[in-house]
Formats: sequence, C-alpha cells, structure tokens
Amino acid sequence: VNLQGLVRDRRVLVICGAGGVGKTTVSAALALSAARLGRRSLVLTIDPAKRLAEALGIPPTGSEPSRIDESRLASCGITLPEAGALSAWMLDPRVVLERVVDRFAPTPQDAAQIRSTRLYQTLVDVMVGLQEYTAAEALFSFSEEGRYDLIVLDTPPSRNALDFLDAPRRLARFLDRRTLAVFAPDSSLRGNPVLRAAAKVVHTALSRAFGEAFASDLQTFLGAFGKLFDRMRVHAEGVRGLLRSSDAGFVVVTSPDKEAVEEAQFFRRRIHELGLETEGYVLNRSYAAETGQTHPMALLEDRDDADTVLFRAIEKLVPLADSEIRRAQADQEVFRRLSVEARPGTGAGVFALPYLDQVVEDLAALKILSDWILRPTGGVD
Ligand SMILES: Nc1ncnc2c1ncn2[C@@H]1O[C@H](COP(=O)(O)OP(=O)(O)OP(=O)(O)O)[C@@H](O)[C@H]1O
Ligand SMILES: [Mg+2]
Repeated sequence: VNLQGLVRDRRVLVICGAGGVGKTTVSAALALSAARLGRRSLVLTIDPAKRLAEALGIPPTGSEPSRIDESRLASCGITLPEAGALSAWMLDPRVVLERVVDRFAPTPQDAAQIRSTRLYQTLVDVMVGLQEYTAAEALFSFSEEGRYDLIVLDTPPSRNALDFLDAPRRLARFLDRRTLAVFAPDSSLRGNPVLRAAAKVVHTALSRAFGEAFASDLQTFLGAFGKLFDRMRVHAEGVRGLLRSSDAGFVVVTSPDKEAVEEAQFFRRRIHELGLETEGYVLNRSYAAETGQTHPMALLEDRDDADTVLFRAIEKLVPLADSEIRRAQADQEVFRRLSVEARPGTGAGVFALPYLDQVVEDLAALKILSDWILRPTGGVD
C-alpha cells in the first residue's frame, strides 16, 4: 500500500486495529506526512500517550483542534512547505456532545433546556461510552467546515470501532424515535396502542424507581432531545456518505504479533462487510524492513588480521545477531502472509514501519516514521 499516495490524495483516513499496535502513533505520523507534503492536516486522536500529547502540544481538554507550532516542528528538523500545517485534537466525547447540542438544537432555548435537565449528565455518560459515535461526529463536522485537506481519524481499540458505519443498526437503533417514544410519550404514540401501553409501563416503573419528579424530568428531556436525535440521524447518514466516498480510506494497523494480526484480519473483514475496502495493512513495529543484515562473523571473513581480541569481541555479538536475524525473518514471513491477501482489487497491500528503539513519544520519532511513509519505494525495498 502506498501510504505516501494516501496522505497526498485523500481527505479522510480512518486508522483501526488491535489495542496497542500503534494506531495513535501511525495516525500522527500520517498527518505529519501530509503536512510535509504541503497539506493542512488534522489528526483526531483518542487517548494519546501523555508524552505524545505533550510533544504535539495538545491540551487535554481543548474545545478546538490546536495547531502544532512551527518552532516546535523546526526544533526536530521538520520544516513544512508554505501551505502545510499540522493540527491535532484529542477527542473528548463530552466536548463533542456539547458541540452537537449547540449545533443541532432547534433554538438556543432548546439547547439550554436540554442542558438544564439532570438527565443531560446521565446522557453524557452514555455518550462517553459511544466513543465511536463521537469520533464519527467530530470527523464529519470538521470535514464540513473545510478547514483541513486531510483528517486522520484514530479509533479506539475496540471491535466496535467501526460500528458507526453500520447503517440502520446500532446508531440508528440508539437514536430511534420509536425507542425514545416509549420513554417520552408524545403525539407519535397516539395511533399505536402497543407503544402506548409500553410507555405507560415504562412511566410507572420509572416513577416508582426514581420518583415522579425524575420521571417528568426524563420526559421533558427526551422531548427536547427527540428533535435533536432526528437531526443527528441525518448527520450520521452524512458521515457514512463521506466514508463511502473515494475521498476516504481505511488503514488497518497491526504489529507482527499473532493476536494483533488476527485482529487486523478481523477489521479487514468487518470493513468489507460494511461494503467498503481497506487500503491495506501497516505492519508497525516490525523488523520486516531489515533486509540485508550483515552477520557479525561475516565482518571477519576477509580479514587476515583478525586478532583474537577482535574475534572474541565480535563472537559475543553472535547470539544477539542471530536472534535479530530470526526476528527479521519471522516479521518478513508475516509481511509475506499479509501480502498474499493483497490480490489486485482486494486492497490489502502491506506497508512495514520499523521498530524504533526509542519510545515514539516525540516529534523526532514521528519524523522518522514519516520519513518512511514518504519514501517513494514504500515500507520495504
Ligand atoms: N514503530 C514503533 N516503534 C517503537 N515503538 C512504537 C512504534 N509505534 C508505536 N510505538 C509505541 O507503542 C506504544 C503504543 O502505541 P500507540 O499508543 O500508538 O498504540 P495504539 O494502537 O494507539 O494503542 P491503544 O490501542 O491503546 O489506543 C507507545 O508506547 C508507542 O510509543
Ligand atoms: Mg491509541
């Protein structure tokens, strides 16, 4: 898979994969690469390592994306072309929800009413669990604003990370007016005796459990929120439309570990089920790109001055070298296996990113990964 092409051409990249494989790191490296190609890029991250967030200068609860300033980049030897800019935003479901309420409530009074109910807080808690929804919401609203040429969406390490794409099922069910109607009886119930009966049972149960005041509060809240949900549902359609277009691409990140690879294949199948195709795999933290290692003993082969001190010193390196070479061969095997799936049109090419011997928590390390991404030959020679 040609990552350079993706960061150059796409408007949206969605990065998914198993836990801890480097999704957040790769997302940031991709966004940085786009900026280095002169694009305005935004990485929407989820829970980045604290030091990475600091390195990028992302405030923990910013209500707006923050732009990584040039002096910070320059201190790591990164200069962006005139048009290029890198921004980052940590997804905070709470902030996203606030934005949703503000934007979609029919009037500011409706927004205020929604927020004034005790239930708002309860709902916020529910929404915080719906991380995938808030991610999609943020993605769509930023893409509509047109401030960025490329948005890279990091996803949570959950098999449900892509559920927001799954049309009428989950999200729509959650937002379904009829479901809500059971809790918040309104005119839509009049013609439906079954729902009306269900609503009565629910109301009685709620009043009994929480008291009449709470039950009324619930009804006020859901009455106001019902209008909001209608709009959010339309919006969810927009997200799906965007992600199904050729402007968007899905990249699955994996490490060479067996479990991570299996999870990656799960994601590829899941994306396929949703009627989409992946652009391919990123084999991160791998030694697959380490070709042509020299065995230490080979250093001595052509030397007639190989004195015993040098010989012994080099001999000590042999077990280390052997294990590294084995590791590289194993990773290359994973690379080959994943590439076999890369039949034309199936969109499963593989791009290897190296195992850096430093923790990737600063811009300098991201630059190394970005250098690989921008190499014309791809991850492996
Ligand atoms: N190519 C690499 N070389 C060395 N270390 C790496 C590399 N990529 C990522 N890491 C390190 O691996 C750890 C996990 O990375 P990261 O947080 O990006 O994974 P993640 O998939 O986003 O995790 P989570 O599923 O928890 O969100 C971090 O400490 C990061 O610095
Ligand atoms: Mg992450």
